[in-house]
Amino acid sequence: MTSKHKEMDEWYRRAREEILDSMDEELEMELDDDRLAHDGEEGSSIPRNVYFKELFRLQGELVKLQDWVVANKMKVAILFEGRDSAGKGGAIKRIAQRLNPRVCKVVALPAPNERERTQWYFQRYISQLPAGGEIALFDRSWYNRAGVEKVMGFCTKKEYEEFLRTVPDLERMMISSGIILIKYWFSISDDEQYSRFMMRIHDPLKQWKLSPMDLEARRLWEAYTKAKETMLERTHIPEAPWWVVAANDKKKARLNCISHLLAQIPYKEIDHPVIKLPARVHNPDYLRGPV
Ligand code: ADP
Ligand code: AMP
Ligand code: MLT
Repeated sequence: MTSKHKEMDEWYRRAREEILDSMDEELEMELDDDRLAHDGEEGSSIPRNVYFKELFRLQGELVKLQDWVVANKMKVAILFEGRDSAGKGGAIKRIAQRLNPRVCKVVALPAPNERERTQWYFQRYISQLPAGGEIALFDRSWYNRAGVEKVMGFCTKKEYEEFLRTVPDLERMMISSGIILIKYWFSISDDEQYSRFMMRIHDPLKQWKLSPMDLEARRLWEAYTKAKETMLERTHIPEAPWWVVAANDKKKARLNCISHLLAQIPYKEIDHPVIKLPARVHNPDYLRGPV
């Protein structure tokens, strides 16, 4: 083997190591998910190695999508809604994991503060919409008004009605301004939410995830069901339909959601010239050593 070949061999070996390293990273997240879980490797319908392979393939496609978004200055907004513990956060993490955080940003707004409460309801969400060349992943969104705010009484009946009446037009305006808007509802069953909450209660590393709001979500399961049905009915428009992700199986939910998402956007692979690392310029000024 020539020394050139030897060097190439070494780079391939190092690249493989990097891939294994990122598998470790994903495995770490997976094992963390499965800790105490009843749906560990046996329970889940997808074996871990099959899941990894497909996830990495999809993440590769997401990189191409990102490339296309940047090259064409596209604006992409994706909403993730669903009950507490439905797995929105986990799906969002896998989508953003390999992307440039300056291109793909996650929007997870806290409860509105005093000042925001006096503003137009949509105002703080509108300012988070993507600019050209950006993808915004909304971990909960303006639909809070149709869910938690309605059920917990954080808004008036009038504000709630006003929301349902105006949101379709608002979304049509976003879309005609050039935003690609995709809306997902992560759907879990009563039993599944119960066991995910029980696991959180028994896991010291996850207890923080259980907010007082979540406990109310259990007590008010029926009210949330009604709110969800009204929301899906009133805000499912041809320009921006709701896509329901079956989310009782976390791995399937992530893979399904990502591949569906990729199918919604007509991205094309962007041709890049073969990358060659430039040789360093030997500038005598730099050779003087540290000053
Ligand atoms: P998460 O499920 O995102 O971890 P929580 O379960 O604590 O967060 O809250 C659910 C949602 O309810 C959040 O989007 C939060 O902003 C919203 N929320 C909580 N309190 C209020 C409030 N007083 N007014 C409006 N929205 C609120
Ligand atoms: P979601 O879409 O997250 O509201 O969850 C839908 C799932 O919850 C489906 O599996 C339904 O069968 C189940 N479900 C809906 N409403 C109820 C209810 N009132 N009690 C028990 N399960 C319910
Ligand atoms: C989810 O899993 O859907 C989110 O992380 C929300 C939560 O933690 O309850």
